[in-house]
Amino acid sequence: MTAKASYHFAGKTILITGGAGDIGRATAQRFAADGAGVILLDLNEAKMAEVTHELEVYKIPVLSFRCNVTASDEVAQTFSAAVEQFGRIDYIFNNAGYQGVFAKTDEYPEEDFQKVIDTNVVGVFHVLKAAAQHLRKSGGGAIVNMASYAGVVGPPNMIAYSASKFAVIGITQTAAKDLAPYHIRVNALSPAMIGPGMMWTRQTQLQAGVGSQYFDTDPKVVEQQMINSVPMRRLGSLEEVANSVAFLMSDEASYITGFNLELTGGQ
Ligand SMILES: NC(=O)c1ccc[n+]([C@@H]2O[C@H](COP(=O)([O-])OP(=O)(O)OC[C@H]3O[C@@H](n4cnc5c(N)ncnc54)[C@H](O)[C@@H]3O)[C@@H](O)[C@H]2O)c1
Repeated sequence: MTAKASYHFAGKTILITGGAGDIGRATAQRFAADGAGVILLDLNEAKMAEVTHELEVYKIPVLSFRCNVTASDEVAQTFSAAVEQFGRIDYIFNNAGYQGVFAKTDEYPEEDFQKVIDTNVVGVFHVLKAAAQHLRKSGGGAIVNMASYAGVVGPPNMIAYSASKFAVIGITQTAAKDLAPYHIRVNALSPAMIGPGMMWTRQTQLQAGVGSQYFDTDPKVVEQQMINSVPMRRLGSLEEVANSVAFLMSDEASYITGFNLELTGGQ
């Protein structure tokens, strides 16, 4: 599947963390269709190679780096290497994330809580800091931090993920203020039910498995319960998420910063 062009990103470059995942991949396609060069960062090299192969059709420059966002030195080195090869980066999609296990608060494992915070908060901070340093030198640009509707309303059985995504929205508001003088816009994106995709399937199965009063124990019923909780009564597609990233990065959003764009939340 190829994306249709709609924004003017020719000659621009986007760096996407979690570039091998479902949303990263769809966003890489969206920006490539609009002419942007793409830099992918992820832990999963095999999937990054697949995405790189898919992007060949757009005839834009593509680079990929294995990079663990929880390691600040790896993030800094990757930014240096990417800038050396591309000259500059205009847009940073700070998107790598981990959903965590699903468990009630009193049973939630401490090591997994730490892993979620390390990936979704500390990792987001490392990428944001490296991005800000680069964009400040290069004269400006735009950053989109991936939050979630779980960062707006805390869902059951996801205490670590919810904490991490509330943090991403706070990080976005502060960074937007700190970086505005340098012509750097920073926004957050908070999708609710997105799919089909790995996270959607995983969350319906794991919510069913917890056996709480909020969801059925059959994942198929859970799917319907979740879909019925959002105003549009359907899943948002990966392409709809990518389109929102493109809007927030685009010149059409030139006066938007510190904003959290919610994609059809539930209650
Ligand atoms: N899919 C949804 O329904 C949904 C909804 C709201 C928010 N989100 C958020 O969107 C983002 C992308 O989600 P997705 O659905 O594409 O999930 P995904 O699991 O398909 O992609 C996440 C990617 O992040 C990478 N990653 C994880 N830890 C990393 C690390 N330490 N360093 C580098 N890369 C790492 C993974 O390898 C994976 O490729 C996540 O932040 C997620 O929390 C997703």
